[in-house]
Amino acid sequence: ASNAMWGGRFAAGPDAIMEAINASIGYDQRFARQDIEGSRAHAAMLGAKGIITGNDADAIREGLLTVLSEIEGGNFEFSAALEDIHMNVEARLREVIGEPAGRLHTGRSRNDQVALDFRLWVRDQVDAAIDGIRALQNALLAQAEAGADWVMPGFTHLQTAQPVTWGHHMLAYVEMLGRDVSRFTDARTRMNESPLGAAALAGTSFDIDRHMTAEALGFDRPSANSLDAVSDRDFVLDFLNAASICAMHLSRLSEELVIWSSAQFRFVTLSDRFSTGSSIMPQKKNPDAAELIRAKIGRIYGANTALMIVMKGLPLAYSKDMQEDKEQTFDAADSLMLALAAMTGMVADMTANTPQLEKAAASGFSTATDLADWLVRTLDMPFREAHHVTGALVKLAEDKGCDLPDLSLADMTGVHAKITRDVFDVLGVHNSVASRTSYGGTAPDNVRAQVALWKEKLA
Ligand code: ARG
Repeated sequence: ASNAMWGGRFAAGPDAIMEAINASIGYDQRFARQDIEGSRAHAAMLGAKGIITGNDADAIREGLLTVLSEIEGGNFEFSAALEDIHMNVEARLREVIGEPAGRLHTGRSRNDQVALDFRLWVRDQVDAAIDGIRALQNALLAQAEAGADWVMPGFTHLQTAQPVTWGHHMLAYVEMLGRDVSRFTDARTRMNESPLGAAALAGTSFDIDRHMTAEALGFDRPSANSLDAVSDRDFVLDFLNAASICAMHLSRLSEELVIWSSAQFRFVTLSDRFSTGSSIMPQKKNPDAAELIRAKIGRIYGANTALMIVMKGLPLAYSKDMQEDKEQTFDAADSLMLALAAMTGMVADMTANTPQLEKAAASGFSTATDLADWLVRTLDMPFREAHHVTGALVKLAEDKGCDLPDLSLADMTGVHAKITRDVFDVLGVHNSVASRTSYGGTAPDNVRAQVALWKEKLA
């Protein structure tokens, strides 16, 4: 039999393979709620404008609620012959309320309908992502507050560079995640236009009120061009772009946690709740959650790339290619939410090994820059010369197998005659971090001030 929705000009039904490649109901049932929300707004508008009767509009709106409760209660039989969520819902509505169901699709097409449903769904995901990021920021903030003055090595090239504070390192991620929130917020603002009423591609001759449906669905305005409205998937790409960058941040933090929890570093202990064991090596406690978060990013980048490729060659307006916008996006959104939740748990639960952090901070000549700065400040030496003198002292310490504070004054004056005993004051790691008071620097006082600012922002 030909299709009940569009089969008028067909004599035969589709081949089984045609049905298999064409049907999206296997996954687009995920936005059933958004589909019904959109249809209810459309029906209310049709009724208000007198395009259908008030009685029909009411019957449609009521019937759609019945269909929604059937779907949400798991009492709905989805049919691949009905292709997608839109036609599954409408077909069921006809069974529930009869003839008025056939009036719902007036002045509308599946093209604007799917654009609307997916936009509503992605908008919800944006809100969920922002909530998830905020939770992670709060966990990082608690770590930053506890360890505003714990000293640890700061790295460049993963080589010891200068001492920093634990709080400062945690706050670096709070900043990155703040930009992620801003990107998601931007994306939300940009996507918040309603495509409903663009119809198939050209608009409609019915006297519809697109402003009314836009407002009812929480949009800022209806989209201005019907061709663009049904062709546009930028809102998905904006979401996937923001998700990609956010996942990249999570991946970098994961990498650090993997390194930090190794026996060679021992900077942090991850909680049992967020670690796993080995089936053969009894001593093992593995940072699997961090590794999985580091890997999830592949799916998210993948979804972003896949949709860019789907969209890049499409002429206006709708092509069925665009049905391939959904599955990877669902997967990317799920991956991001799970990664955010797992990272939040790991960060909240982890314990910094402060003696080990401090020991590591003091090794590797980490206060060499402080020594050079002392030469500049005390002896009025040009920085380039101070750099050179300090380099000679580092070499001397290296030859002696000790660190900079272990050199004697005689060792120091042997390299440069004017060095005095005061120099030893700047070689300790606590002095070092306390001195970094420039705006945005690692000093504990700066960290405390930033923690206070972020707490206010997140409150
Ligand atoms: N299932 C379709 C999709 O996901 C809905 C739109 C169908 N439109 C059409 N002209 N066939 O894109």
